[in-house]
Amino acid sequence: MSSNNPNRVSAAKPQRMVIVGGSSGIGRATAEAAVAASLAVTLVARDARKLVRVADELGGVPWASVDMTNAVAVAEWAEALDPFDHLVITAASSSHGRFAEMPLSDVRRMFDGKFFGPYGVAQACLSRINTGGSITFFSGVLSRRPGLNCSGLGAVEGLTRALALELGPRIRVNCISPGMVRTDVYAGMPEDAREAMFRSTGESLPLGRVGEPGEIANAVLFAATNTFLTGQVLDVDGGHMIRQYATR
Ligand SMILES: NC(=O)c1ccc[n+]([C@@H]2O[C@H](COP(=O)([O-])OP(=O)(O)OC[C@H]3O[C@@H](n4cnc5c(N)ncnc54)[C@H](OP(=O)(O)O)[C@@H]3O)[C@@H](O)[C@H]2O)c1
Repeated sequence: MSSNNPNRVSAAKPQRMVIVGGSSGIGRATAEAAVAASLAVTLVARDARKLVRVADELGGVPWASVDMTNAVAVAEWAEALDPFDHLVITAASSSHGRFAEMPLSDVRRMFDGKFFGPYGVAQACLSRINTGGSITFFSGVLSRRPGLNCSGLGAVEGLTRALALELGPRIRVNCISPGMVRTDVYAGMPEDAREAMFRSTGESLPLGRVGEPGEIANAVLFAATNTFLTGQVLDVDGGHMIRQYATR
């Protein structure tokens, strides 16, 4: 039986996904889900030792050590890439601070980690992405439901909509906005404080808990492979955007 469903993945030619941030947390979970779905995965991050370990755990997938905030390194790496289908950028590092007090140099560092890094990677990879492919950026619940000291975190969502318009119909562009997810991004906190934060945030959410990396990975695969989805920010946040602040 034949099908005209463009979402059908050809068994003969596995789609290729490059995951910048693939050595940890949501990026690693996305890599695992993509491998399970028979996509050919390449991992990118900075720490080569971590990359080697994770690449090994995923059955020996290729990897590259690149700092996405280093434009020269990104250009050299992208230049040597074979064509691929789906670019996913989970990598981020962000500094937070009060608007009135944060030095501009720190604000620039925040935008390097949360905006210019992903922007530069997408721009450098553009000519390598096959027609029908996709780009998936990452923002976070604090973009539109900010806590204190989080100004400027939402810029990538505007970029998602602008690029979806500019790059369509050749490439679709979407963004995942996770709520709080158990990953190494919180590894620097003392365990007690971290667990207390997960518990209290979880209790404030309609789903009663924080997320697991695999739950976000599932949304990344959907965004990358659904051929009628573009320009969207998907909130995968346990209901954080609608959470109740006052007690009932
Ligand atoms: N976890 C949450 O609760 C949460 C909530 C809202 C939004 N998010 C967003 O979701 C995304 C993924 O978060 P996560 O929790 O999975 O983070 P994570 O566990 O800390 O993983 C970050 C990954 O990005 C890589 N990376 C960081 N900076 C990089 C750079 N300059 N160049 C290349 N690679 C870099 C890291 O490896 P190296 O350090 O080796 O480079 C690592 O592989 C981020 O955009 C984050 O802001 C997360």
